Amino acid sequence: METDRILLRPWRDSDAEALFKYASDPEVGPRAGWPPHKSVEESLNIIRTLFHNPTTWAIMLKATGEAIGAIGYGPSCDCQLPAHDGEPIVGYWVAKPYWNQGICTEALTLMLEHIKETTDIPSLISGHFIDNPVSGSVMEKCGFEPTGETCIDETQYQGHNRPIRVLRLNLT
Ligand SMILES: CC(C)(COP(=O)(O)OP(=O)(O)OC[C@H]1O[C@@H](n2cnc3c(N)ncnc32)[C@H](O)[C@@H]1OP(=O)(O)O)[C@@H](O)C(=O)NCCC(=O)NCCS
Repeated sequence: METDRILLRPWRDSDAEALFKYASDPEVGPRAGWPPHKSVEESLNIIRTLFHNPTTWAIMLKATGEAIGAIGYGPSCDCQLPAHDGEPIVGYWVAKPYWNQGICTEALTLMLEHIKETTDIPSLISGHFIDNPVSGSVMEKCGFEPTGETCIDETQYQGHNRPIRVLRLNLT
């Protein structure tokens, strides 16, 4: 999946340094609910575990060959969002130096085209913390519609409930 400036491709072990450089930024992970990476070894382990599946991709900037973000979809069973049975959840992040250049919107558009072409998935769910409206802008630009709000008990990172705005995209 590609456009003039980005390529969505599987993560590689050799992305570990770039992943650590960008995912150790405290401005990135906590907005999506995960803690900043603490070492290159941790980033490598995440590439080999969490990212090692056919529906998670590195967002690679063609001009540099560097992985500057991640995007994917997968089972929503652990996400605490009000998903329909079997409805996948969408997630993404982009490295801070590349924010507000339309890269995430471009990556999500590519992934949605891929999902429509290769699956029969009828709908997708996603959500963003209320205090992270930029993520909602990306979803809405790609056709997601708000369905309400919920709260997850995110003890791992914040230790208290954080309200989430939930959005759904119907693909049928
Ligand atoms: C959310 C994130 C992926 C967006 O990536 P991005 O490449 O900067 O997104 P885009 O440039 O494609 O689109 C951002 C849109 O939000 C808009 N925006 C910027 N600040 C905003 C704000 N405070 N409120 C609402 N919208 C805002 C931009 O104007 C842009 O819309 P436009 O193209 O119509 O002008 C990136 O900020 C990020 O990685 N954040 C940290 C992790 C995260 O939040 N992940 C998502 C978890 S749900």
